[in-house]
Amino acid sequence: MSKLPIGIFDSGVGGTSIWKEIHSLLPNENTIYLADSINAPYGPKGKEAIIKLSIKNTEYLLSKNCKLIVVACNTATTNAIDYLRNSYNVPFIGIEPAIKPAALQTKAHAIGILATKGTLSSALFSKTSGLFASNIKVIEQDGEGIVELIESGNLHSDEMRTLLKLYLKPMIDANIDYLVLGCTHYPYLMPLLIDLLPSHVKIIDSGEAVARQTKAVLKQHNLLNSQVLNTKNEFFTNGNPEVMQSLLGMNFDVNYLEF
Ligand code: SIN
Repeated sequence: MSKLPIGIFDSGVGGTSIWKEIHSLLPNENTIYLADSINAPYGPKGKEAIIKLSIKNTEYLLSKNCKLIVVACNTATTNAIDYLRNSYNVPFIGIEPAIKPAALQTKAHAIGILATKGTLSSALFSKTSGLFASNIKVIEQDGEGIVELIESGNLHSDEMRTLLKLYLKPMIDANIDYLVLGCTHYPYLMPLLIDLLPSHVKIIDSGEAVARQTKAVLKQHNLLNSQVLNTKNEFFTNGNPEVMQSLLGMNFDVNYLEF
């Protein structure tokens, strides 16, 4: 059982930022990554549509006998994870914006959150924000357009720089000292964000925490892979494999798959 793969899905290539953290913490694990790039972004879609797409991704991963599924997409987690947990028997790991650590550590009493519309408008996000950030200033920003630029291979474009400048301005004006990245595509913006933000602003995402949680849940279910040899990491996308390849580097093959 433990040799079975971990399944990871995202609306597109962004969840590879989570896969990197999982692979780095759990190098013995076999993994299957599924990018639903043809349907990206999930952010502007309604809850029902996001649940439907999450079911489709989950069923593909279960057809490959995945022992645990990581929903490496904030939008899918905040809208669909309860449904998935109630519908399937495997453990699910979700990802939510790291509001709690930012709210606990801010000295400026002001934090910024960059996420999709689907995440910011979800009940789970409101609950977490209300629980941990009710007595600080929270500048929420819908990162409309960012996922599309990354999915189309325009991560390093002038258009991306212009968009980010616009989105960060209200946060800089509010004197934030923490920026929370609430979408798994956004860690790929790190160099640009560091360049555009004042140097005292700390940027946090949930990647490492998700990897630690994945390890803890595998351990709890006695599912960790103890066999070290011949680990297999497979990547599938129904979009352009070259975009994912450029984010992963050349050590891993990315395959086109219609699903
Ligand atoms: C999206 O599909 O809109 C972004 C994915 C995410 O929320 O992590």
